[in-house]
Amino acid sequence: MAAPKIDLKTLKNKAKIELEKAKDLAALDEILRQYLGKKGQITLILRSLKDLSQAKRAKIGKEANEIKKLIEAQYQKKAKIFKEKSHKHSELKDWLDITRPGEKPKIGHLHPITQALKKAEEIFQAMGFTVVEGPEIETEWYNFDALNFPPDHPARDMQDTLWLKNQKLLLRTHTSPVQIRYMEKHQPPLKIIVPGRVFRSEATDASHEINFYQLEGLMVGKDISVANLKAIIEEFCRRFFGKPVKIKIRPSFFPFTEPSFEVDLLCVNCLGQGCSACQRTGWMEMMGAGMVHPNVLKNAGINPKMWQGFAFGLGFDRWVMAKHKINDIRLFYGGDLRFLKQF
Ligand code: PHE
Repeated sequence: MAAPKIDLKTLKNKAKIELEKAKDLAALDEILRQYLGKKGQITLILRSLKDLSQAKRAKIGKEANEIKKLIEAQYQKKAKIFKEKSHKHSELKDWLDITRPGEKPKIGHLHPITQALKKAEEIFQAMGFTVVEGPEIETEWYNFDALNFPPDHPARDMQDTLWLKNQKLLLRTHTSPVQIRYMEKHQPPLKIIVPGRVFRSEATDASHEINFYQLEGLMVGKDISVANLKAIIEEFCRRFFGKPVKIKIRPSFFPFTEPSFEVDLLCVNCLGQGCSACQRTGWMEMMGAGMVHPNVLKNAGINPKMWQGFAFGLGFDRWVMAKHKINDIRLFYGGDLRFLKQF
């Protein structure tokens, strides 16, 4: 095979310029292939040396080898730069700083009512009360009869009570049935609170929901009086709101207490001036209370001649509303995170 007639100097310059212009690794590889590949121009020249005369072989061989070395050196130099660049690029893309503090998982927090219930439980526990729970589905006996409701009492009405299909069971309308359930199993002296959900068939508005929370209290002993009731309530208010508060006790009626009271709290929002939170009366209705009716003790198997006590039941949502100055009870149950995240 005859040596191709090529001017080695031109070839060298051409290779040099092409190598200089190469913009990436692929372009470099292509140049390498063209000159030094199996059928590359330099490869062919070197392969054809054996056909040349001794003198020519030495001269052309030397020059061709020099060009080969030059291409290889130039290739190595530029390829290294390209490789470093692309390496850096991919490093930036999935760069991992192992010293960076981890991202905290979002775990949410307790509902404002749950938070307040926990606080209320702590306060009462510190005063020696036991926290007790009862079923949300009740019988008519525990919810009404045992609590001395007469058979025709309007609270049994379909309008207030959510009856279950068979008309024998209902969703408890208050936490008072747990008074009976607890006293059936425990003899006095006793001090309990009963936090829990209750249900009423009512039209909803800013201060009414069909389900809400109550906190029931019951203290039975040898000589428990209204004075004890007042002291406990006042202490609870003071600790719950974290400041001195003023309460007012006025007569009321409940079938299961005698005498019965309504406890009002001097509006924690306007301090008696009158505002929207207290319907401009200066007072907030916070709970029903009274001395446990003898029939209730009897119905639970306790001798009313030996024991007496007080009970109270507070609409807990209202307490949380007063504490945080919330003006609509429905916000508690709407599941709106913009509201819930404030607590
Ligand atoms: N159970 C009553 C209600 O739901 C409140 C109450 C409880 C009143 C205990 C007196 C004693 O309105």
